[in-house]
Amino acid sequence: MKRKFAKVVTKLPGRRAAAVVRDTSKYLSPSISRYYPLVVDSAHGSIVRDVDGNQFLDFTSGIAVLNTGSTHEKVVEAAKGQLGKFLHFSYTDFYYENLVKLAEKIVERVPGDFEKMVYFGNSGTEANEAAMKLARNYTRRTLFLAHGGAFHGRTMGALSLTASKPIQREGAFPLLSETVHFPFPYCYRCPWKQTFPECDYYCIDFFKEQYLEQFVPVKEVAAFVYEPIAGEGGYVMPPPEYYKRMEFLRKEGVLFVADEIQTGMGRTGKFFASEHFGITPDVISIAKGIASGLPLSATVAKAEIMRSWKPGQHASTFGANPVAVEAALATLEVMNSERLLENATRMGKVAMKRLLEMKDKHEVIGDVRGLGLFIGVEIVKDKKTKERGEEEAHHILEECFHSGLLVISAGRNTLRVIPPLNITREELDEGLEILEEAVAKVDRLRRSRRE
Ligand SMILES: Cc1ncc(COP(=O)(O)O)c(C=O)c1O
Repeated sequence: MKRKFAKVVTKLPGRRAAAVVRDTSKYLSPSISRYYPLVVDSAHGSIVRDVDGNQFLDFTSGIAVLNTGSTHEKVVEAAKGQLGKFLHFSYTDFYYENLVKLAEKIVERVPGDFEKMVYFGNSGTEANEAAMKLARNYTRRTLFLAHGGAFHGRTMGALSLTASKPIQREGAFPLLSETVHFPFPYCYRCPWKQTFPECDYYCIDFFKEQYLEQFVPVKEVAAFVYEPIAGEGGYVMPPPEYYKRMEFLRKEGVLFVADEIQTGMGRTGKFFASEHFGITPDVISIAKGIASGLPLSATVAKAEIMRSWKPGQHASTFGANPVAVEAALATLEVMNSERLLENATRMGKVAMKRLLEMKDKHEVIGDVRGLGLFIGVEIVKDKKTKERGEEEAHHILEECFHSGLLVISAGRNTLRVIPPLNITREELDEGLEILEEAVAKVDRLRRSRRE
């Protein structure tokens, strides 16, 4: 099929890309793992160009950051406008006008019919560090509850909550010992071999019996920190009433901290994924898509909780950079004027339908799940045994890359389909076409190996 958007004109990696990859391994920390040698030169909307003139369709959004697409003209214009005014004047010690405007707009969008306040940082992990410190300060309790498979960041506090891959914690101990992990309700691979809905949320009974009644003194739990839908751990949807049924914890004084760093900013078709589950968190962590690519994060809490902090208790020199703040204001404006939530829902339905059809056709697709443009495609070696298809997933990513589509994985064997929220139907269709060709090729190969 002739491609309109994806145009690979060199053997990959091209000459310039290969040189950058070589020098990267010489000068940059080896702690970063990459899927394939994409060396970005420029990016606009859902199209990315590399340094050798190849053109790719973007199903990654720079890892769920570029929700308004790359270099949206309104975001760029807003950032440029601020560049000539002031680049920095630390909100740790001074005031600026656009920051209050942004805080006001964010609290309007965060669920909850109560007064809220915002703490600004630079990254997701910082937003969660702030949430943890705040939860302890307000409750005067020490423990945290988190899910197995969770990803909350890579600094020591947030890393203590993270449990999606052992490598992320390797060499980092001791972490916060006051963190208790319990299984995420991963219905496709139910840890208790139950089936939903017949199980009647056995996961919650198990949590009560094996945790709260055996070794976790709930009166000492400051917060339950959770991603409404597991992200890095494999794009896993909990069953619909899960969080509502977990709300019994609130009666025990446990704060609900929703990490919406990946699920927020419209990715699931609602501003925050919490809205799909009908829960109102006490604290929400926001980052990634908030400023369309400039570093910014926000920890939003009930005002009563945030007012437990006294001046000097928490801050960050670079938090709330004024250029990022302008980009965030423009991002919110674009989300509104271009109806990105509606587009995410509409395009999400198109993608979901097509991916479910692919699942029926191809043995290597075990499960397709998600909301809006937050979609996971779990790759297996065999649909019946559900044996994880890690090599197959990797192979599909590589095939896509070589055909001009950028896709990455989550967890061990799930592909994530997370294009910009303003992707067009034509771009989406072409990307899905490439993805299907890659899936079909890997499926054929798997079959021929078995025969
Ligand atoms: C749910 C979630 N929380 C926290 C983080 C950490 O964000 P950052 O890498 O900006 O520190 C991520 C990053 O992928 C994330 O997906």
